[in-house]
Amino acid sequence: MTETLKLDGPSREALLDRAAQGAIGRGLDRPEGPLKVTGQAGYAADARLDGMVHGVLARARQTGTITDHRLEALKAMPGVVLVLTDGIPRNPAQGAVPTAPPAADGVAYTGQPTALIVAERFEDAWHAALAYDPQITPVAHDLDPETAATVETPEDKQRADDGWQDTWDAAPTKVDVTVTTPSLTSAPMEPHAAIAMWEGDQLTLRGGLQMLKFNRKSLADALDMPVAKIRLLAPYVGGGFGSKLGVAQEAVAAALAAKQLGRPVSVVMHRRQVFEATMRRSESRQRIRLACDDAGIIRATAQEYRVSNLPGEAFSEPVARADRAFYATDKLKITHEIARIHRMAAGSVRAPGEAIGIPAFEMALDELAEAAGIDPLELRLKNTVEADPISGLPFSSYPLADTLKAGAKAFGWQHRPPRQQQEGEWWIGQGLASAIRGHFAAEAEARVSLTAQGAIVETDQTDIGTGSYAILRQITGEMLGLDPADVEVRLGDTAFPPAFGSGGSAGAASSGTAVLLACRALRKRIAASLDAAPDDLTLKDGHVIHGNRRTALAQIVPQEGWCEQGHVAAGDISDKVRTTTCGAMFAQVAVNAVTGEIRVRQMHGTFAAGRILNHKTATSQCHGGLIWGIGMALMEELHHDPRDGAVVNRDFAQFHIPANADVPPLSVDFLDAADDWGGPLGALGLGELSISGAAGAILNAVHNAAGIRIRDMPATPDKVLDALDKLGS
Ligand code: MOS
Repeated sequence: MTETLKLDGPSREALLDRAAQGAIGRGLDRPEGPLKVTGQAGYAADARLDGMVHGVLARARQTGTITDHRLEALKAMPGVVLVLTDGIPRNPAQGAVPTAPPAADGVAYTGQPTALIVAERFEDAWHAALAYDPQITPVAHDLDPETAATVETPEDKQRADDGWQDTWDAAPTKVDVTVTTPSLTSAPMEPHAAIAMWEGDQLTLRGGLQMLKFNRKSLADALDMPVAKIRLLAPYVGGGFGSKLGVAQEAVAAALAAKQLGRPVSVVMHRRQVFEATMRRSESRQRIRLACDDAGIIRATAQEYRVSNLPGEAFSEPVARADRAFYATDKLKITHEIARIHRMAAGSVRAPGEAIGIPAFEMALDELAEAAGIDPLELRLKNTVEADPISGLPFSSYPLADTLKAGAKAFGWQHRPPRQQQEGEWWIGQGLASAIRGHFAAEAEARVSLTAQGAIVETDQTDIGTGSYAILRQITGEMLGLDPADVEVRLGDTAFPPAFGSGGSAGAASSGTAVLLACRALRKRIAASLDAAPDDLTLKDGHVIHGNRRTALAQIVPQEGWCEQGHVAAGDISDKVRTTTCGAMFAQVAVNAVTGEIRVRQMHGTFAAGRILNHKTATSQCHGGLIWGIGMALMEELHHDPRDGAVVNRDFAQFHIPANADVPPLSVDFLDAADDWGGPLGALGLGELSISGAAGAILNAVHNAAGIRIRDMPATPDKVLDALDKLGS
């Protein structure tokens, strides 16, 4: 039996509010943690299959048309068993698409993998891959988004309210701010990898993948075979951040090679390939104009920006969404430009859109506060809204003002003029930014089996380090009255019912709801066996309490157990309410007047994302976002060679992400309250919320400390020293 629910209205589950078992919400440790730290959790590249050979992707060093792959010499190299050049995609598929990744047509970007060298030993394949030297007729391409010949302006991404200009002209206080952000990378710890194995016409592929339901369809399309003949396995994934949303070159190449050879083939990307051949976040140039009246209420808002991608890619970083506003405004204007250039593909990197759009907007707000002579916290509080000012739709919950007030109190926010406090050569200052990120409901299915020993949960949902294993235990434990330790969760296998996967912060709420629904069906079984109504039962500690009777589940559940499915489908909620998560982030920084170095001294965030399912994993997600903010504000930048667009800094030595010494004490609080529209769990997507604004809090603090505005991220010491010079310090 399948318990189904279509989300088209409030549907909060009362049992979770009662929390008889006390499993939901608490900071349960991740059950797979010990397996990971002891090396027992098998990642994509860890399997050692009988007869397995090793494939290494080889890169093209310039863009153009390949006239000769020059494979003869490679094929003669020691240990080489196959060189494959046909069918390797240009770049990975984008997230949540069921179609094949784009086919290659020559070399579209420097570093594009255009051959797979397979050898008995990894070392031999690597050696031959380095010797790969195809003959290429170069083609000149646009490489710079600012000078690109082709710039698209898709109609559905533009907005221009009538009377915008008049409102702007009439406003007494206005700012016109341009913020630029560089290409960025997702930098997951686990490099992208796939091991493919065929048994007859049946393909089994172990991969580093985030969204198996979509990945399976996409791979079937790429290989022109039935979806049902593919089994994907991704029980453990070492981080994704968007870079593993879609099927990519290593998976398609491994499958093709394994078929030709009749042997399992392993393809593991080199760290440099993760940097230059997966997905980057597009660079952006964002012009933000804000005008407010004498009371500090925003009247006109404009966000005009340019991002880039390869020709033919449907994705473009959604820096502002043309159909909505999150602060008060009478008139809104959005311009979204996509420059077609031949840098590596741009795709979803942690919170695509908001991650760079909200910090820039929050920096402009800080400038507006200064221009209006209003405390930046006060300006935000004046402009919070109950309904989306553009569509008029109410928010299901949007306690932005509460997070700002609670966060300010926890952090100790004190508004003071810039350049007021100095410790030796260090200027000290504070800044804040809101965090804002949309939430959406997604379809998911799961199966739960209940036996006298406990419960088993099965779904192809992935856990990319986010906590799926833990929270699905907790939801099952709460619904069935079991210690979470007695719930086994099996994930990352397309043999299990299909979930949405880990994307768009939608994994926990969607797969969790499917599990909850399966548990509801099991509660009905239990109730029927006792001749009771399901709502009259309390399930706790492996017992069923009904009136005065307390019966062990083991006495009720038959020997073979019960197995039920849950299926949640996204209904029309988004036509009725805006579901959005929010928060407030505060930073204290020190800016060195001599060296230009910026140190973050302290950060705090107070966040709201409906019901918090596990306070420990939720806090970890928010720590992650704050740390991304430090990297974005101060250090992270992919450098493209202006001559060929190649990514120059292709490793962790040259692309520095915040290390322990860069990260100050972080504190995180939640306004933990179920959202009635967030499905039965009342939970909204949390993972990508805290990156969405964080860099803005830091750069606003830099202004408060040293009186300088760094609008070109990252704020490296050279830019700080230049700005201090101009200030005449
Ligand atoms: Mo997220 S960029 O959808 O992994």
